[in-house]
Amino acid sequence: MGATRIPEDTVEKIRKAVDIVDVINDYVTLKKQGRNYFGLCPFHGENTPSFSVSPDKQIYHCFGCGTGGNAFSFLMEIEGFQFPEAVRHLGEKVGIHLPQLDQSPAHQKSNRDREVMQQAHELLTKLYHHCLLNTDQGQQALAYLKDRGFDEETIKTYNLGYAPDSWEFASAFLAKRGFQLDQVEQAGLIGKREFDGKYFDRFRDRIMFPIFDAKGNAIGFGGRVLGKGEPKYLNSPETKIFNKSKTLYGFHLARPQIRLTQQAVLFEGYVDVTSAWRAGVKNGVATLGTSLTEEQAKILSRNAEGITICYDSDNAGVNAAFRAAEMFAQTDCLVKIAKMPDGLDPDDYIRKYGAEAFLTNVIGTSLTVMSFKMDYFRRGKNLQDEGERMQYIEEVLQEISTLKKAVERDHYLRQLANEFSLSLDALKQQQHQFYKQSQKKQDKPFEKRDNKARKNFYVQRLLPAFHNAERLLLAHMIRNIEIAEKVQEEIGGAFNIEEYSAVAAYLYAYYAEGNQPNISAFLERLHEPQLIKTASELAMLEINEDISDKELDDYMKQILIYPKKMQIEEKEKEKKEAERRQDFLTAAKIAMEIIEIKKTFTNK
Ligand code: GTP
Ligand code: MN
Repeated sequence: MGATRIPEDTVEKIRKAVDIVDVINDYVTLKKQGRNYFGLCPFHGENTPSFSVSPDKQIYHCFGCGTGGNAFSFLMEIEGFQFPEAVRHLGEKVGIHLPQLDQSPAHQKSNRDREVMQQAHELLTKLYHHCLLNTDQGQQALAYLKDRGFDEETIKTYNLGYAPDSWEFASAFLAKRGFQLDQVEQAGLIGKREFDGKYFDRFRDRIMFPIFDAKGNAIGFGGRVLGKGEPKYLNSPETKIFNKSKTLYGFHLARPQIRLTQQAVLFEGYVDVTSAWRAGVKNGVATLGTSLTEEQAKILSRNAEGITICYDSDNAGVNAAFRAAEMFAQTDCLVKIAKMPDGLDPDDYIRKYGAEAFLTNVIGTSLTVMSFKMDYFRRGKNLQDEGERMQYIEEVLQEISTLKKAVERDHYLRQLANEFSLSLDALKQQQHQFYKQSQKKQDKPFEKRDNKARKNFYVQRLLPAFHNAERLLLAHMIRNIEIAEKVQEEIGGAFNIEEYSAVAAYLYAYYAEGNQPNISAFLERLHEPQLIKTASELAMLEINEDISDKELDDYMKQILIYPKKMQIEEKEKEKKEAERRQDFLTAAKIAMEIIEIKKTFTNK
């Protein structure tokens, strides 16, 4: 939080001007269904949309993972913003510009640290680049790159460089520029020797691939040995500015083309990206030596409608491609896998067969994941042989069973039927069998229910009566000030569930200040994320707003009775215990107490 807070009325103005549907639409594809919008939740993996957005209430809620809030909390959750950043961001969106915020000293220091780290990277990027292109030391590295087909334009575009064979080239340079070496160490650029505390360069005699964030700031390096050697690539460690799971190599350069074409190509290696760029693929990115993370998949899916995965053709590469494809299953992206001849990576292919062939025969003939798998299952099988043919058909049917869309399943079933002159019906039956088997194994009770059914299931069958009563009561109180006042008067904070009790307390205070029911405004009072989620969920409950006094009273009674019931249960246990000890006097005393407690609520 900033030292100077954004004035309440400014926040209010922005909140009123923003439409949450617009905000969330930038991240999630929403479809209107009744009064609300639904989409796939960006905060957890799912295949059926449980994420709902209410334009009336200006809030969102996921019935799957329970997250929820208003436009500000959405941005805080998805972008990792602090509240003021979220307000500022939305302000920009609706044309309400805020003056620069004063920040707390700790925040300022952290920002300064990041800036210094980025500056160090920027300077070194330039220096290494200069060494590669213009110095004697860099000649061998340059020759190596040229020999591998790199041209000057690619080297310049990607800012490739050379780190000379020295223990103190970078550290001395940065020290001279006034950098504090402990900060440079924190940035992962140099190390510190234990025995004498001296700093030394991390990258020595390596070809340097600077790694940029989405805005084009250098935040890390991958350093490749010249020729053979171990490790082949030495990468920067994770630092305050370098988060590997959220970064994609080449993204800042590829982004304009990705957005323009709505297509991205995903590679495994840095060199694949640079070679493909040379070949005309300007929308290529790569992971940083690890398998694709959920965050990386999300970044791509936010920017593109289609992804072509272009990995090595060996077994490891194919499996990695499947795993990457699965990451996208939770997004709206259409994923294809490019087919590379055995033993080549994209860079090898381009050098061997040229750019044209790469574009037409590899990228151009990429297959949907299903077709790719069919192709894969075929490998090494003789389909003239009946046994192998049946095995193949079974494998494909198993795969088809995993497809979510009926049209897709139908498409591949027909393809299979045509190819092997089989009865479509028979194939369908068999496939359905496989599906049922896999369902039994997974035992996912909610997979096939719609959201409403799922929600009601929870509310009606899983929750004890008092819990249900507390939820429904709060749902009414959030919408109706009179109900809230009545409940406050009669039961106050007697909610048994701690979170509900807290929400009720905030709600009483909110109304006491003269505010009208407005869930989105109310959410801003709740600073704890858990409470925000809880309140949004309650606000999204579908309730019949005409509630009779009798129903209200019933709910309140349930709430008041519950602790007493618990007390009685406790006492019953004590009583049984006493009887077991043959201590009938105590047992009788407890029986009396139980009657007294019962009296307090049966009279009412
Ligand atoms: P070249 O071998 O120069 O063509 O590079 P490449 O990009 O084709 O490398 P490769 O396919 O072997 O590896 C793919 C990616 O994995 C690289 O771009 C690196 O990000 C990462 N990687 C490869 N080797 C190492 C290593 O030894 N250490 C680490 N940390 N990462 C590596
Ligand atoms: Mn390679």
